[in-house]
Amino acid sequence: MDLKKITGYEAAKEVLDGHVVGLGTGSTTHHFIDKLGMRFKEEELDIMGIPTSYQSFFLAKEWNIPITTLEEHDVDIAVDGADEVDPAMNLIKGGGAAHTLEKIVDYSADRFIVIVDDSKMVKNLGEFPVPVEVIPCASRLVSRILEDMGAASSIRMAERKDGPVITDNGNFVIDAEFGLLQDPEDLEVELNSIPGVVENGIFSSMVDQVFIGTPDGVKKI
Ligand code: 5RP
Repeated sequence: MDLKKITGYEAAKEVLDGHVVGLGTGSTTHHFIDKLGMRFKEEELDIMGIPTSYQSFFLAKEWNIPITTLEEHDVDIAVDGADEVDPAMNLIKGGGAAHTLEKIVDYSADRFIVIVDDSKMVKNLGEFPVPVEVIPCASRLVSRILEDMGAASSIRMAERKDGPVITDNGNFVIDAEFGLLQDPEDLEVELNSIPGVVENGIFSSMVDQVFIGTPDGVKKI
């Protein structure tokens, strides 16, 4: 059973006619957008999407889902994946380097649903390094401060391009390994106070619901 697919498909049922939908990024959200695209076509839904990355933008375009922006519309519902989810529904995101726009769109939504397979559920956040998007010229300064804060850090390197990953906003991503996070909410704020940091991948106190794909079906918390 493809747990990401059943979860993405289940979340697509939550979108109602007339909704403006925040379109998250990643492989789980890919399934959500596919199912939403099918519904858009078959049910002739009057919906609009606000993408959180070029990935979700291009996919929505393939399905002919109308695109809008935060400048023009409020977001009724946002659906997005995550790299880790703790019992308080705090997240680490940014595995796809899209966390800055994801946080803006997801935060704007009246209802924010996270979709994950059960491997993403953890007792404590922090096994997955915290992605920190930085203005390129600040990367050495930010790396030094992260190390002073006790994190091992490295600039994320691209796989099919020489050199670093460049985000959709033209920045670098530093992956910071703090170990298990004692207080994600405080760390989220502290990281964003470092000069040159654009946004980090901790999403605390933002989530309304988590849909978890398990071998027994999709569990909703
Ligand atoms: C992108 C993200 C993704 O939502 C996160 O990495 C989960 O991806 P996937 O659904 O492919 O496991 O935060 O920046």
